[in-house]
Amino acid sequence: MTKIAVAKGDGIGPEIMDAVLGIFNAAGVPLEYEYVEMGKWVFDKGYSNGMTPEAQQTIETLGILYKGPMETPKGKGVKSVNVTARKTWNTYANKRVFQTLHGVDTVFSKAGIPIDVTVVRENIEDTYGGIEHMLTHDVALTRRFITRPGSEQVIRYAFEMAKKKGARRITCGHKANIMKITDGLFLEIFYSVAKEYPELKADDVIVDDLCMKLVTRPDLFDVVVLTNLQGDIVSDLCAGLVGGLGFAPSANIGDHICIFEAVHGTAPDIAGKNIANPTALLLSGIAMLRHLGLMEQAAIIENSLLYTLESGLHTGDFGDKSIPSANTTEFANAIVANLGKTPAHGAKAVMPNMPMTPTHFKLEKNPMLVSEEMAGEQIVGVDLFIESAEQPTEVANKLLAHTGSLFKLVTISNRGTQVWPKGSVFTNLINQYRCRFESLEEAPLTQVDILELYKKVMVDFKVCSLELLNMWDGKKAYSLAQGQ
Ligand code: NAI
Repeated sequence: MTKIAVAKGDGIGPEIMDAVLGIFNAAGVPLEYEYVEMGKWVFDKGYSNGMTPEAQQTIETLGILYKGPMETPKGKGVKSVNVTARKTWNTYANKRVFQTLHGVDTVFSKAGIPIDVTVVRENIEDTYGGIEHMLTHDVALTRRFITRPGSEQVIRYAFEMAKKKGARRITCGHKANIMKITDGLFLEIFYSVAKEYPELKADDVIVDDLCMKLVTRPDLFDVVVLTNLQGDIVSDLCAGLVGGLGFAPSANIGDHICIFEAVHGTAPDIAGKNIANPTALLLSGIAMLRHLGLMEQAAIIENSLLYTLESGLHTGDFGDKSIPSANTTEFANAIVANLGKTPAHGAKAVMPNMPMTPTHFKLEKNPMLVSEEMAGEQIVGVDLFIESAEQPTEVANKLLAHTGSLFKLVTISNRGTQVWPKGSVFTNLINQYRCRFESLEEAPLTQVDILELYKKVMVDFKVCSLELLNMWDGKKAYSLAQGQ
């Protein structure tokens, strides 16, 4: 029998996990569970990443983690165990399926508009690196990483999944009109992978427009792929379209380890009351069964869930308020009693199992993802981020004294808006400037040249941070300032 790791989680986690595993057992799901120690109480025991070393080893051996929601202790400087798990094991794609469920009333179900949207969110990169610094007392900076191999992994997964699902359309949501380098890279990779899937209609929509279109015509979308933060926001928006967080399942997919969990958190306001809705965790579990090739049990359980929802039974967080609500145990018992029944709407075909044992593996080294290098890399300048509460011309005059024979001062910007050599006196300033130096005559520079400039500038200013200006194949690998 296939063994998987299970972590019940905090808050409502144990209640809903017990309810779901009870349904699995009643349906004869051929899985064995190894319970692992993860969550708030593990932080409290002194494990700073929220899991015991034994838990980590079990999950790395078994390859599948089914988890309840987990609380991140506040104000202790610790990172979310949920995010740590996704990142440590490189579950690069977060797949969330949002479908109309009969019995769960929404404005769209009432209007007869069916929804079946799958959101694939990049799960590792973007601002979720959590690499943040205060550059001055007034200025906080976060680093947003979008990488070529990381984007390619998630985009390729989205196309492959869309093809298997028989999707018609795959849409990239992005903000490449503003973030030309980062989202521009994600979009470029989307269209380059799209060429390998001519049977799918691939298009892109700017993320704000995407939100508007999703709430007006969700039925026009099929598979949507986005970077991490935008994907986080858009997937919660989609959860709202189908009835809220109680119905939002989530699969975190990696090459070696996959994590299945509900989108919602630990619901501390209702924890311990046995009234939580187990549907999102159950839907995540059904996705896990399909992932493991347990097609028959997945369809039987899903049909029973759909039948139960159609019958009007509901927990307190949704449904017809004129019908008394069921508690978690009663709701789960009803699903058990309805096993074998078929819903009137959206019945799933019961197919034979194709069980797959997760591959047991041992990695000796961290995999290094490097794409083919482009020719002709050159350093052509540097952005120095300096602290100063002086006016732009005063800053420029001091900097111009340091340019020497290698550099020219090209622009100074404040919060991304150019304030020197041209600008407006109406632009509000904060005490931190980005000063762009480029090489005279576009001659290539070395890191030593940059360091020499840094040493000269720091005589007048505190240099808070720097970024090299690179060119690849004669193309600028950096953005211009607003107004430059
Ligand atoms: P939450 O999702 O726990 O709760 C938001 C609201 O939705 C609450 O009113 C809650 O009662 C309700 N709710 C959530 N799940 C429900 C369910 N299954 N049935 C009925 N009602 C439900 O979000 P919140 O309050 O922001 O976070 C609480 C804790 O959960 C925090 O410590 C947070 O870090 C953690 N969290 C963990 C996640 C995970 O493990 N993947 C995801 C999101 C939050």
